[in-house]
This record gives sequence, C-alpha cells and structure tokens, in this order.
Amino acid sequence: RPGTTHATSDPGSAPLASESGLVVPVGRGDGCPFDPPAGVERVRREQPVARVTLWDGSSCWMVTRHQDVRAVLGDPRFSADATRPGFPFLTAGGREIVANNPTFLRMDDPEHARLRRMLTADFMVKKVEAMRPEVQRIADELLDRMTDGRSAADLVAEFALPLPSLVICLLLGVPYEDHEFFQQRSGILLSLRSRPEDIRTAQQELHAYLVRLAGSKRERPDDAIVSRLVARGELDDDEIASMGRLLLVAGHETTANMTALSTLALLRNPGQMARLRNDPSLIKGAVEELLRYLTIVHNGLPRIATEDVTLGGVTIRAGEGVLCTLNSANRDDEVFPGGDALDVGRDARRHVAFGFGVHQCLGQPLARVELQIALETLLRRLPDLRLDVAFEEIRFRHDMGVYGVYALPVAW
Ligand code: HEM
Repeated sequence: RPGTTHATSDPGSAPLASESGLVVPVGRGDGCPFDPPAGVERVRREQPVARVTLWDGSSCWMVTRHQDVRAVLGDPRFSADATRPGFPFLTAGGREIVANNPTFLRMDDPEHARLRRMLTADFMVKKVEAMRPEVQRIADELLDRMTDGRSAADLVAEFALPLPSLVICLLLGVPYEDHEFFQQRSGILLSLRSRPEDIRTAQQELHAYLVRLAGSKRERPDDAIVSRLVARGELDDDEIASMGRLLLVAGHETTANMTALSTLALLRNPGQMARLRNDPSLIKGAVEELLRYLTIVHNGLPRIATEDVTLGGVTIRAGEGVLCTLNSANRDDEVFPGGDALDVGRDARRHVAFGFGVHQCLGQPLARVELQIALETLLRRLPDLRLDVAFEEIRFRHDMGVYGVYALPVAW
C-alpha cells in the first residue's frame, strides 16, 4: 500500500503533510480561491488513488483523476449508502445528518431509483426549459429592485441567493415568506462547522415544517411538487418531508454560490467577460466552463466499496471508503488541457461538477437555466459591473460543503 496521506476535515485550516510528503487538504487551499488545493495536481500525477486519514482517524481512499472519478461514480460496486459501516464522513455533522434522516442522495438502487423517479418529470430538460420566462421575470425583478436609485449592492443578498430561493419555493409550493427560515436552516445543514446538536435541531425544524406543509396540501392541493407527491399516495408525510428537505437544501446554496462565484470569476478575467458580453451565444458553453472551473461541490463525493475493486494500480477492499475529488477531476490535464485557466469558449461538457452515474445531480437542468439567465441578464443590464471592494477583501466560505462567498459587493 502507498504511504498514507492526510486529509484535513476543516478546509479552512492548515493542511497536514503526509508521510510521503504530499499535502492533501479537503476543500480549497490557500492559493487562488478558484483553484483546487495546492498539491492535488501532484497527487493526481503520482498517487492517483491515495490513502488518506480523515478527521476521526479513520482511513479511506481519495480518487483524483477524471477517469477514476467517473469509474467509481459509475460503478454499482461502490455504494452511496451512508448507513454502511465504514462510510467516509467528512465531518461529525455529516454523520449526524444521515443517521437522523437519510435522503435518496445517500441510498442505493432500487430504493434510490424508486424515490428519484417520483421527481424526474419535474426536473426534465423540457419541463425546466418551459420555466425560462418565469426565471427571466424573477431575475429582472430582482435586478430592478437592486438597481433602483442605487449604484452599489451586495450581489449575494440581492440577486444570487433570492433567485434560486424564489424558484425552488415556487417549484415545491413553499410560501415565499418562509424562504428565510429555509435559507437559515439549509445554511446550518451545509456548514462543515455546525455542531451535531445544531444540525439535529435544524433538521427537526425543517422536517416538522415540511410535514405540516404536506398536511396543508392535502386540504388545499396545488400543482407544485409537494402537493403532487401527496396526491400520488405512495409516500408518507415523513418521506415527503425528506424529499422536500433534500430539494430545498440542494437548490439554495448551490446555484446561489455558483452565480456569485461565476460573476467574480468573470470580473477577475475581464477578457473572458468581454468575450461573453460581445457574443451572448456563448452563454451555454460558458456556464459549463464555469461549473468546471469553479467546481463548488469541492469536497470529495463519498462512496464505499461493496466488493474488492482494482483501480489506478491499487486494490480497494470491500468495506473501504472512497472520496471522489471533483475539483481535481475537473482540472485533469488529460481531459481539460490548460484547465487552470477560465476559457468561456472551451468545450467543458465532460466536467463532473454535477457528479456522475446514478446520483448525478437531479437539479442540473434547472441549475443550468438559472445560471444562464442570471449571468446573461447581469452582463446585459449592467455593462459597467465591477467589484466594489478590493479582491483581497472578499471573504470566501470555507465552512460549507459548497464553496462560495459570504457577500459580493459590486457597483455599476
Ligand atoms: C446531487 C451538484 C444544483 C438537486 C448532486 C450531486 C452533485 C450536485 C455533485 C451528486 C452528489 C453525489 O453523487 O454524491 C450541484 C451543483 C448545483 C446543483 C454544482 C448548482 C450549480 C441543484 C439544484 C437541485 C439539485 C438546483 C434541485 C432543485 C439535487 C439532488 C441530488 C443532487 C436531488 C441527489 C440526486 C441523487 O442522489 O440521485 N448535485 N447541484 N441540485 N442534486 Fe445537485
């Protein structure tokens, strides 16, 4: 077995040096906030399937090459069932979330497929494409309000976060007045620093709210997702609440942070921003490239082997955990030459920012529509958009399962 490499569970803290001299922090490093941690490129080259030690002293494998990440995520011998002993959790909080109330994100087929299938029609490309006018209206209204009589604002609070928040509330049939309640709880569930007891409380509050919501839809049905799940009659209210929670948490911070970080990445690369502004037909490809370049789900996706599997020259034994490092795979030179640079004209479609295999992001058609509209509208309506603080003053979120910024002060 190759030498053990350490992974820190707190992406904000200093990385630990491994016995073999390789440094592998989970999450982002101290270098450019858009790049994977320093050292990962070398791990990918020299030790593509590396043994790492986690925060609780347990060991698992870290997979860093694009081909190996896809191999693991596409192989049913690797399970996403987090109740299996030895499943690699990045934090104590992560273990708490699953122990209390698992969602289909951490289940295997056929149970995973049975539950996911109930939502596929709602997130199909055709269905989501039909929402473009609605998403455009929301984007325009938010920008009308943000720019009304002002020349500066926090893009996160006024645009990047409320846009996906409004859309997901609409889809689920959650009254928008309650979106702050959700935003706050989903923030706790996604934060790597949350204490297990806070996670338990946030989860219970969200769950209780969603059970009540399901009950109210039984009395007064509508055509949003929660009401339709109730009408199907196949799930009890607890199961419906778990699905709703997964969608609310997955649908908030992900798209919000992608919107904010994409804007920042374009402001840092004015040549690329000008190219996109001059040729809006590049927007679809540019969003794929931004998904690749930023890879906001930056901690490894966890799996556990159910059989012995040989990969990258090592044998992963049944019962051993694996972390699939998406931000490394998306910078793999074999697939994305010069991948450390943002190039809005690149064909980035093979990126794994949405994962790969049966758990590949259910919400990706929606995330794409939201991001394309948000960025196109922002560039078109605010031609003088610029940062309102020095780049060095921006505070990046290292405390979340999803990478992002606390605020993005901009002016126009
Ligand atoms: C799964 C990323 C937006 C709902 C995933 C996974 C990734 C991901 C990497 C795979 C997790 C794994 O295999 O362990 C993203 C990114 C987004 C985004 C980068 C935004 C840019 C959304 C949105 C929704 C959503 C808007 C829904 C409203 C889901 C669901 C799953 C999932 C339900 C679980 C799928 C399954 O287990 O079958 N997402 N996501 N995501 N995502 Fe997203």
